[in-house]
Amino acid sequence: MKYSKDVTQIALALIVGGIFIGCGGDSVVTVDSNLTEKEKMLEEKVAKYMVSSTLPTLHILPTMSDEDGNNQDAKATYTLTANKNVNVKIETPDGSWNTPMWRYNNNPLPLVIRTSRGNAMTLNFNNRLDADSTIHWHGFKIPAIMDGGPDVPVKANDSKLYSFTMNQPASSLWFHPHPDMQTGKQVYMGLAGVYLVEDAISKQLEANKELPSGDKDVVLLVQDRRFDSEKNGVRKLLYKTKEMDADGMKGATLLVNGSVMPKLNVETTQYRFRLYNVSNAKTYDFAFSDGRKFKIVGTDGGLLNKPVEVDHIMLGSAERVELVVDFSKEHVGDKLLLVSKPYQADSMMMDTNSNSEMDMEDNGMGLTIMRFDVTTKVSDDITLYSSLPANAEIATRLDPTTASNAGSSRKFVLSMYNGGNMGQGMSGNGNSNSMNMTFAINGKIFDPNRVDEFVGAGTTEIWEIKNMSPMAHPFHAHAIQWQILDRNGIPATGTDLGWKDTFLVQSGETVRIIGKFESVNVGDYMYHCHILEHEDAGMMGYFRVGDSGNVKK
Ligand code: C2O
Ligand code: CU
Ligand code: CU
Repeated sequence: MKYSKDVTQIALALIVGGIFIGCGGDSVVTVDSNLTEKEKMLEEKVAKYMVSSTLPTLHILPTMSDEDGNNQDAKATYTLTANKNVNVKIETPDGSWNTPMWRYNNNPLPLVIRTSRGNAMTLNFNNRLDADSTIHWHGFKIPAIMDGGPDVPVKANDSKLYSFTMNQPASSLWFHPHPDMQTGKQVYMGLAGVYLVEDAISKQLEANKELPSGDKDVVLLVQDRRFDSEKNGVRKLLYKTKEMDADGMKGATLLVNGSVMPKLNVETTQYRFRLYNVSNAKTYDFAFSDGRKFKIVGTDGGLLNKPVEVDHIMLGSAERVELVVDFSKEHVGDKLLLVSKPYQADSMMMDTNSNSEMDMEDNGMGLTIMRFDVTTKVSDDITLYSSLPANAEIATRLDPTTASNAGSSRKFVLSMYNGGNMGQGMSGNGNSNSMNMTFAINGKIFDPNRVDEFVGAGTTEIWEIKNMSPMAHPFHAHAIQWQILDRNGIPATGTDLGWKDTFLVQSGETVRIIGKFESVNVGDYMYHCHILEHEDAGMMGYFRVGDSGNVKK
């Protein structure tokens, strides 16, 4: 299979070159010599699902309607009520079961809000959980008081009115709870939603047939879960039931829009998929089963200035891409799988995992994800845009020499170490994480009463994130979309040229980013690792925009 080619060659080169590669100084990268074996296991799964006739149909996520009943005015009102014990039917190729989940508005599926740039949003949140919750608007440039961080909790049975005006480019954003130390659990239980922003540029591209739209524009939410064994047709979600879970909750069952290995019937034209990694901890290396090339047209915070052609795309927790795949050369009856390729494991994964099929799946590698069945012949009328109009913000690269901290980047060092008092990872059941791992940024764990960084309102800053730990971490900051400047000094290329609110920093890597802190968005915001168990364990800090004081209000 073609997709295996590059990895196989890398793996072979590494095996020939020895099992350990020193990468300077005292850091040593351990090489995973079993990639070819993993490739073979994936090929077997691909062969099986290519012919299976029992795949469930992909759920199209429901779009909420504006409660003011007028889609044309520049205002929109929504209500989001977080409920426990919503009965969700999980469909799989091998039958179905019921799982009680936590969902918004009692809907069995995650909800989609679609709005336009410039719209004034009013979102009434009702917390019907029995714990604090919030709605955090991931990737939104909004005032801190509306940002839904852990410092503005909504108590059980309380409500909060979130209101803000969307003023950022068309993008695939999302929302999720962000209460202190419970974010991982609440997202895992099923609370997350999709928020799509459109703007004049995206609407024009769609109208010009330069970007697929309508039913050719499909949201795909990828999440892994662990289910208990069946009791009376019910399989409960299990959260943090294994020792390793405190280091990142990973389950062996992969859901796409709530189903296991679903299929989508497609026509012979181009489709746009908004691919969301909303897993708590897993990284996926997405590709197609025939190794085909596809175009990435958008990243976390908006469309790319120029589409980028790739044959795979790695996404850490909370990262998104908009991709365009071309089915126009296919014949009716053809099938194609979306997979996650085996990738080079970091030494953390290798410490803790063997090569059994289960462990591979636990790592997000070597997975089949969903199938596309070509069922209808049509003529393809899409000619993908080649570059955005010059007024698109992303068409301008931020200039590092204009940063207010040019020459002295704000530095963040990610680290993990054994010991400390963070063994509280296994909430509730009295077990402790055997590794007793502490996750830190700049040597500190999160303190809700401490502001770590002070940033001037309206300034452009360069941040430098250095990963001194043995595993990759997806770094995220609120209220800003970044441009990546360089990785280990190598200037950004490809999808790194898009707006990013979350990006993977590999073990041993240093990533420099640049972004503008809008003067209207002031107050206290978070930066953190988006492996939610790391975040809940304290791999997070506050930055305050617009105040140089040093006492948290
Ligand atoms: Cu998805 Cu603090 O964020
Ligand atoms: Cu966020
Ligand atoms: Cu992390």
